[in-house]
Amino acid sequence: MSRTATIIKERDAAVNQDAPAQYGLSSPVLPLIASDVGYLANGQRLIDRVSFTLRPGPCTMILGPNGAGKSLLLRLCHGLIEPSHGSITWRGQSPARAHRWLAMAFQKPVLLRRSAAANLDYALAVKGVPRRSRRPRVAEALEHAGLAHLANRPARVLSSGEQQRLAIARAWVTQPKVLLLDEPTANLDPIATHAIEMLIQAIHSAGTCIIMSTHDLAQARRLSDEVLFLHKGRLLEHTPAEEFFECPRTEQAAAFIAGELFY
Ligand SMILES: Nc1ncnc2c1ncn2[C@@H]1O[C@H](COP(=O)(O)OP(=O)(O)OP(=O)(O)O)[C@@H](O)[C@H]1O
Ligand SMILES: [Mg+2]
Repeated sequence: MSRTATIIKERDAAVNQDAPAQYGLSSPVLPLIASDVGYLANGQRLIDRVSFTLRPGPCTMILGPNGAGKSLLLRLCHGLIEPSHGSITWRGQSPARAHRWLAMAFQKPVLLRRSAAANLDYALAVKGVPRRSRRPRVAEALEHAGLAHLANRPARVLSSGEQQRLAIARAWVTQPKVLLLDEPTANLDPIATHAIEMLIQAIHSAGTCIIMSTHDLAQARRLSDEVLFLHKGRLLEHTPAEEFFECPRTEQAAAFIAGELFY
């Protein structure tokens, strides 16, 4: 069994012991409530009257074709951009106030020009974690992501899959309650994709809520518990995953599942 698999097994065992906490209804930051959210740029309505509520527990997948608005919606939730109208709140607070509980890994990870370990250390330093506590947390996160052997390698020479794992580890090391992941496996081969999916599942099992986007349907089937389906900036479905894939409610979702929907 690989080191990562062992860690994940240990995590799962630990999680099973406190499963009620994992799926309990309390979270310092959830529910996330998007209420009539719109986002306009250059006179175009890119996110159009989107409303939903996300509660603790399920792994939420934002699905939709290229250009549907998945990345924009994640950025709005994280507070990187502000809605043109409507509101987004995390347990009643603005994204800015909820920030300490949130972390995001981007579609194109931007890593600092320093070692893999130093990228994680920096993320903790920014959060104000004292130096003496940082080292063990960095080591644990690298181990968890299967990157311990690459700790001292410059982050920018890592392979795409390793960089994606490092970006997720960098987000996770800050111990967020919610991890926002934007297309974490875009352009990766099946083995790298599998490694990242294992990492995401382990993080979710350990009690961190996951909200992620993908246009990879097979991945969505593997990972998601509920689906937000976006098309042309509009939320067409918010459905339990099984129901979404078995009997989509909209013709756009049915076409997307059949691989026939383009922006
Ligand atoms: N700042 C901006 N100004 C103008 N248009 C923008 C801006 N940001 C995003 N868009 C447009 O908004 C739409 C949604 O973009 P977004 O990146 O959210 O799509 P996506 O669903 O993440 O697509 P992909 O699957 O390709 O990542 C696209 O048509 C994009 O060109
Ligand atoms: Mg995107």
